[in-house]
Amino acid sequence: MNNSNHIIRPGARSAKPSKTVAPKSQQANGNSATGLLHCFAAVPRGAEELAAAELLALGISDVIPGKGGVSFCADLSGLYRANLWLRTASRILVQLALFPCLSPADLYAGVHAIAWQELITPEMTLAVDCSLRDSILTHSGFVALKTKDAIVDRIRESCGSRPNVDTTSPDVRINVHLHKNNCTISLDSSGDSLDRRGYRLERNEAPLRETLAAAVIALTGWDGSVPLADPMCGSGTIPVEAALLATHTPPGLQRTFGFQRWLDFDEKRWETVCKDAENGIRKISLGLITGYDLDNRALLLAGRNTAKAGLEGQIHFFHAALQEFQPEGDKGVIIINPPYGKRLGEEDDLRELYCQIGDIMKKRCRGWTGYVLTGNLELAKYIGLKASRRYVLFNGAIECRLLKYDLY
Ligand SMILES: C[S@@+](CC[C@H](N)C(=O)[O-])C[C@H]1O[C@@H](n2cnc3c(N)ncnc32)[C@H](O)[C@@H]1O
Repeated sequence: MNNSNHIIRPGARSAKPSKTVAPKSQQANGNSATGLLHCFAAVPRGAEELAAAELLALGISDVIPGKGGVSFCADLSGLYRANLWLRTASRILVQLALFPCLSPADLYAGVHAIAWQELITPEMTLAVDCSLRDSILTHSGFVALKTKDAIVDRIRESCGSRPNVDTTSPDVRINVHLHKNNCTISLDSSGDSLDRRGYRLERNEAPLRETLAAAVIALTGWDGSVPLADPMCGSGTIPVEAALLATHTPPGLQRTFGFQRWLDFDEKRWETVCKDAENGIRKISLGLITGYDLDNRALLLAGRNTAKAGLEGQIHFFHAALQEFQPEGDKGVIIINPPYGKRLGEEDDLRELYCQIGDIMKKRCRGWTGYVLTGNLELAKYIGLKASRRYVLFNGAIECRLLKYDLY
């Protein structure tokens, strides 16, 4: 079994060559030799190309978008920067090993072959996440348990005692992915999902995921040079994500990451990455980004989220119904995320609202570009305008459309 493994060293602090590390000829892409890590950014479906563009903009190499994520290579600084800066990815995994896995014995041997004692001490805690597709092993709970057994056995053999499991706040989160009987073992460098930026204090009824809001803004091409208005802003996710982008604020500046608890965590390097980012933050002019809603409670949340994100005073929120909406200025981007029946209110009540969205965009927003994000295509027909582009995106499990309207 060992000989068919591809084992990729993540750069443990006491990086002694391990007996289990495959000969260089067998290491995937030979990247262990260059000090680069094989990474995979998990991305909500529909946003893969956007995440790939973000990685390229960070100067990261070997960026290959695929279904549900983007693979790339990075050194530790690159890994830290990707976690700090990526707006559209949900987590970043660092691959340790790839091997064929047709049985529980294959799984155990493949996991056991990794030098876990260099990554996890008996005093640390761990958790194993698992995803399976089209494989002989079909029970994710069993695969996670078997993986955990192989890891703790390997550490016990080497250190005399074993680490404990902590599923809520582990020091090291391990990811097992089985696809067509090929197993990838990775370390989850993000810890909490990257959409948890740290600025959302409470959830309103139908909040938009932060990563999806960022993907929507990226798809509009908005770059801060013209105003952006969200007439149904709820808790303000779209305005806050837009302001983070326009102020050059990294979305992860308010939170911690899984890699900060790894043995090889390089605090100096991380401080440099954060300092560089902080030095680039700039202010935006008031009036550039505006949000409106008729729900006062949602607006209260929007204000609190804005302050927590460090953007106090940089977004203007107004208590107003869509029916009164009139953007200021002769051009800009309007992004509307109306209720769509599946999660808030009922479809019948919403038809009129969608008609009004179309009417208001047509009559009051000439010169602007309008975008509507909805999970209900039937309701979208009531907008009554011809969309010039349609993008498919996912809000969790809900398939959504982002519709673009050129409002001449
Ligand atoms: C799907 S939620 C928007 C969620 C928001 N993107 C967020 O991240 O929290 C739709 C919002 O539209 C607001 N809304 C519904 N009808 C409205 C109307 N006629 N005028 C203004 N806002 C309205 C609701 O109060 C709700 O906050």
